[in-house]
Amino acid sequence: MSGRFVAAVDGVSTLGRLFLSASGGLGERFRAALTVPEGQRAAMAVLRLVKPHLTLKANLVACYEGEGTLLVTRAADVAEVLAREADFAVVYGPRMRALTGGRDFFLGMQDGETYRRDTAAMAAITDPDDLVEVLAMARHEAAAAVEAAAGPTGSGEIDLPPALSARIPALMVQRWFGVTGGLPVEQLIADATAMFHYLFSDLGAEARVTDAALAAAARVNAAIDASRATAGPDTLLARACARGAAGDPAFDAEGVRTQIIGILIGAIPTLSKAACHAIAELLRWPGALKGAERAARAGDEERVGDYLFEALRFAPVNPVIYRRAVADTRLGGTAVPKGRMVLAANLSAMHDGAVVDSPDQFRPGRPWEQYLLWGAGLHRCWGDRVNRAILPAMLLPLLARPGLRQVAPPDGEGTPFPRHYRLAFGMRGGAG
Ligand code: HEM
Repeated sequence: MSGRFVAAVDGVSTLGRLFLSASGGLGERFRAALTVPEGQRAAMAVLRLVKPHLTLKANLVACYEGEGTLLVTRAADVAEVLAREADFAVVYGPRMRALTGGRDFFLGMQDGETYRRDTAAMAAITDPDDLVEVLAMARHEAAAAVEAAAGPTGSGEIDLPPALSARIPALMVQRWFGVTGGLPVEQLIADATAMFHYLFSDLGAEARVTDAALAAAARVNAAIDASRATAGPDTLLARACARGAAGDPAFDAEGVRTQIIGILIGAIPTLSKAACHAIAELLRWPGALKGAERAARAGDEERVGDYLFEALRFAPVNPVIYRRAVADTRLGGTAVPKGRMVLAANLSAMHDGAVVDSPDQFRPGRPWEQYLLWGAGLHRCWGDRVNRAILPAMLLPLLARPGLRQVAPPDGEGTPFPRHYRLAFGMRGGAG
């Protein structure tokens, strides 16, 4: 309790500082304080102490039907919500079906025969050795991108998403998934991001987000169909088609499109945003940045990963994971009516002193189970092994350069997904 008390007092003071340093009226200042990870962590520290189950009349996730919102911030409650899949279900089904053209993708399903059939089918077309090739590509492309950005003196500037953090996952989609079909890398990045935005982050249910996502889905579905004939034998697409031809119902023509677009949507904006967040957060911890740079220069990807995942604990890609109550139920002492949107705050859980030692300290190499970076339970990220390996592989060459610094903060051009993040390295003022 005393740890939670101290964290809450610190939280109040952080919120006050962020509020005062923002500009605009009251509402604008609140919004500014609560849209940055530091402010979200501070507000959640206060809630963990004074209101660990916060009920709001409004449904904060307007793009999916729901009756009010319950925000839970303690680690034990977050774990319980994600574990009780039968009571707190995923909500993404309708939007997922709008993108696939009608078929359900397993992230939109509750546990059951079809969920198990489709996830087993996906497991059957993936080979653990696939990751070896993916990582070799990521290392090569990342080194080349940083080399290309460096001038003759070794100093330079790089715009992280287009040059590296979105580009490499897009190349993974082309080469490992097998989706080319006339879609250039830049369009693939834009389309995957538009669809991801629509599915997971369109909290205000904006028409422009829907329009962009449906146009993107039409292009990507056509590209998947067009890639069927050309996908190499070691691609997920070719393996899926082969199993479909052999009668696997998960991979009939519609099924192939659905499974491939489902994993494609999850792969590009997530990894890119994670890379941007990890670097931006590391730059706030000069001692940690030095440690990460040392590990990078020693070529130690695992140790680089320790720093990146600890940075993401402070600024994860998503601060909450949302679910909806299937029927009237309870969470601890709180009654949860059917239809209530339940926000499980993974950011808060990773800073709950009840389960994490010295949560406000930057300590690379914490026990892996403490990192709730890509969900938990039934819907835990399908790409978790990929994420853990590819993020350090993508970022090592950049971190190995001396003097990494920010030229401009990540810029999503009005979206929650950085399209630009300009960084410099090497001698100050020396871009070549
Ligand atoms: C750092 C990068 C990533 C982050 C932060 C991330 C985050 C997440 C989260 C939070 C979930 C659970 C959603 C929920 O429970 O509501 C999830 C599920 C999923 N992710 Fe990721 N993801 C990442 C990368 C990837 C990649 C690279 C792929 C594909 C190669 C992928 C494919 C999926 C799929 C298919 C699911 C659904 C799993 C299921 O329903 O069983 N993700 N991800």
